[in-house]
Amino acid sequence: MIRKGIVLAGGSGTRLHPVTEAASKQLLPVYDKPMVYYPLSTLLLAGIRDILLISTPADLPQFRRLLGEGEQFGITISYAEQARPEGIAQAFIIGANWIDGQPCALALGDNLIHGDHLYAMLLASAQRTQSATVFAYQVRDPERYGVVFFDADGRAVDIVEKPMAPPSNWAITGLYFYDERVTEFAHAIKPSARGELEITDLNRRYLREDSLKVERLGRGTAWLDAGTPDSLLQAATFVQTIQTRQGNLVGCPEEVAYRMGYIDSATLRRRALQLGKTELGRIMAEIADGLHD
Ligand code: TTP
Repeated sequence: MIRKGIVLAGGSGTRLHPVTEAASKQLLPVYDKPMVYYPLSTLLLAGIRDILLISTPADLPQFRRLLGEGEQFGITISYAEQARPEGIAQAFIIGANWIDGQPCALALGDNLIHGDHLYAMLLASAQRTQSATVFAYQVRDPERYGVVFFDADGRAVDIVEKPMAPPSNWAITGLYFYDERVTEFAHAIKPSARGELEITDLNRRYLREDSLKVERLGRGTAWLDAGTPDSLLQAATFVQTIQTRQGNLVGCPEEVAYRMGYIDSATLRRRALQLGKTELGRIMAEIADGLHD
């Protein structure tokens, strides 16, 4: 099993300026929760309870204040600084000592994944310890992302980073599972033309080694990032729509922790009380009382 996971929550957030000139993007609200709750919930759902949160030196204290050491989720959260935003793959260099030669997952701090069969797929990915797993999702604007294309048999041929002429509309999402070679491979990456250690280069290395599984996420799954004013608003509206219609929570780490057996109902109830009169607190209390399936 992959037991460790990094949440990468630094970056410069320039596409959200001036909002992110003085505030961390990943602490902005996506409807009723801080953005970082969503990728954190995804890792918890994958069975990962040992988390490293990486952010900027300026923002890291706020993440500590919000998440502490993770005991409210029945997990362990450690923290590390990324001095400058020198690329997503740098997470594995910053985290090398903490990873300690083990397999490791990575979730980008501004990504939200929600959908049917996600649990089974995440669990299968976390069980793959001899290869890497990434997820592809069809989007209208693939040029913003790493783009994967497939041969006639559906095998991934290559991945290209932010192509001007995208070879397909399959974007690679911000959730990655890697085997124990990840730190070694990350150290071998050279900075790209834009001066970053590219996650696409890490994924291409695994692809070259015939060790990359590309899972295609279908229509039953929503993948959203919240890096622009429009996508932030869309993500919030999405969460609001599902939660108010179904009464089910999206991206609530306390709920995931309870359902996964990391915390008991008394702990969930205490947290619900802390959240006082919020609708989130009310639903959490109902979950603790067994009123939701
Ligand atoms: P991006 O959205 O590509 O970059 P950004 O957050 O700096 O935003 P912008 O393009 O508007 O300037 O990053 C994706 C995620 O990865 C996001 O959660 C920030 C994080 N990230 C880091 O923490 N460190 C980095 O060096 C990079 C490149 C990204």
